[in-house]
Amino acid sequence: MNEERRIHVLDKVTASKIAAGEVIDRTSSVVRELLDNAIDAGATEISVYLTGGGIKEIRVIDNGCGMSRGDLDICFLPHSTSKLSSADDLFNIMTMGFRGEALASIAASARLEIITSENGEIGYGISIDGGKVTDLGAVKANKGTVVSVKELFCYLPARRKFLKSPAAETSASRTVFYEKALAFPGITFKLFLDGKLTSFLPAGSLKKRIADAYPSLAPEKLYHQVEAKCDGYSVTILFPGVEVVRRDRRDIHIYVNSRPIQEFALVQAVCYGLSAYFPGGTYPAAFLFIQIDPSLVDFNIHPAKREVKINNLPMIHRTVVEALKQHMGELQKPAGSTDALYPKDEDIDTGIQKPAEIIPSYRPSEPVNKTLFGPEKTQMTFFPASAPSSQSSAPAGRSFSNLLKDKPEVVNFQPSPEYHGDFRYLGQIFDSFLLCEREDSLYIIDQHASQERFYFDLFLSQKPEVHQLLIPYNIECESQVAELIEKQIPKYAEIGVIIKKDESGQLYIDAMPSSFFELKNDVLNLLVTQTGDFENIKTELYARAACKKALKAGNAIDYDKAIDLIKKVFAMPMPRCPHGRPLYWQLTKDKLYQLLERTV
Ligand SMILES: Nc1ncnc2c1ncn2[C@@H]1O[C@H](COP(=O)(O)OP(=O)(O)OP(=O)(O)O)[C@@H](O)[C@H]1O
Ligand SMILES: [Mg+2]
Repeated sequence: MNEERRIHVLDKVTASKIAAGEVIDRTSSVVRELLDNAIDAGATEISVYLTGGGIKEIRVIDNGCGMSRGDLDICFLPHSTSKLSSADDLFNIMTMGFRGEALASIAASARLEIITSENGEIGYGISIDGGKVTDLGAVKANKGTVVSVKELFCYLPARRKFLKSPAAETSASRTVFYEKALAFPGITFKLFLDGKLTSFLPAGSLKKRIADAYPSLAPEKLYHQVEAKCDGYSVTILFPGVEVVRRDRRDIHIYVNSRPIQEFALVQAVCYGLSAYFPGGTYPAAFLFIQIDPSLVDFNIHPAKREVKINNLPMIHRTVVEALKQHMGELQKPAGSTDALYPKDEDIDTGIQKPAEIIPSYRPSEPVNKTLFGPEKTQMTFFPASAPSSQSSAPAGRSFSNLLKDKPEVVNFQPSPEYHGDFRYLGQIFDSFLLCEREDSLYIIDQHASQERFYFDLFLSQKPEVHQLLIPYNIECESQVAELIEKQIPKYAEIGVIIKKDESGQLYIDAMPSSFFELKNDVLNLLVTQTGDFENIKTELYARAACKKALKAGNAIDYDKAIDLIKKVFAMPMPRCPHGRPLYWQLTKDKLYQLLERTV
């Protein structure tokens, strides 16, 4: 038997180089670690200097607590930290760092120099170059620490080859700089590129910090701030209103205990919470900060601490969704009103109000039809609602303006005397709205929204008829999204969307109800973007199918259909379209008299 060993324990230098690769893979990881150290040192001002994209030099200067001579001598050794003393502390981490690996990894990857002072008078310096430690002795230094990292990967040429251009390295470091600065608005941050100050983020409020760091998103005053709490967690969400629409989820930033993390479930929670305002394929920009009792999180699962294990993630998810929905719901109500989406007579002072004024932040998925409310140059067309008769020269279902275009005929307006139950139909205006008198009120009914509501209710009440697709639709999405969709396959089947998986693992839609045929892209978009929120997907799909099927604004309507629709509208328990807009506007006789300054 061969006694020779193939296994041997690596020497310290090789082992430290391997370990360093886990923590430091490019210039931005050095920036991240040095910023973390400065923040943990209690600095109120931190400056980052990058030369040659940080490949030549990364220098971070802070005014934090500094280090003693003794601490300086060992801070760069593997596993040396002041932030943990036993494994138990791992479950009570209040600092950014805790592993005692960063400086050791940097020292194994580049030329490291540290000058530090606890009192702002006398300081000490040390340099580590290729494992050689040089004491720089006592020096005059400001309070705090200066760390300089030169020639990254000069001892690891294979890794140096993977560094990108100085511009690309700068860009990655700048991203880290803003990410970090965002979570610490009480600290002033400065970024210098090749000696020039390029970013200055003065200490201030969180809202101001976000607006300063992401000026292209929105000014500070537009940000909404939503707060919520649940057992052991507190949540703060800032977002620049629903007008800022993004094509992907990149501007949804998640922080847990001040660390930027990648947690798809929380990104999704923000999307769900605002989903009513961001139709398929569009996303909000948002910043979600979660503070968690440190015993309920584990950051020790990723070398760069970008992933985290959180206890009770579903509860946080729910809290975020509900807080956002509630916040948006509140905004839709005018002061003193309980129901903003539905204007009441007393809210209307003069004439007809624009829905946009009543609901400042409400943005329906379809534009509000402004022609009734706005000052646009709309020509009023009126199709009198006389019951069709064989003598009538006006074909049913055509507007007065159209008649005039065809034949210069004079149509006498004769309101129908005919009552249908408690209402009489007066006619169609703007090819879009039905006028009707009922009891002591005039009703202006939105024909499209009304039919939309009718079909929406119908779809919800019927069992879907499923039709096989000639060509199945592939569901293209990230693997995390695919997993979530797969879990909900039985749910989607309830609404007739039959999803299957082929041998390669690709999910596809195999069959769906015919009412969704025209909505192929919407179905795919909703599945991918609203993943997991089945109720929302169902509502949105039925709403869109109903919208497609309904009579459009601008379509003429014949007498019988109009009567039928009005009957349906008055029988509805909730006369609103699937997106919440009212189906009609009601003007009472008293209000009309008041508007025209008449006494009865
Ligand atoms: N800028 C600084 N100011 C004061 N002390 C510092 C500074 N940078 C590092 N230190 C000290 O050096 C120690 C080692 O730093 P290092 O970054 O290697 O480890 P850590 O921060 O403890 O953990 P991690 O590896 O997770 O970052 C720290 O624990 C801290 O005591
Ligand atoms: Mg550290």
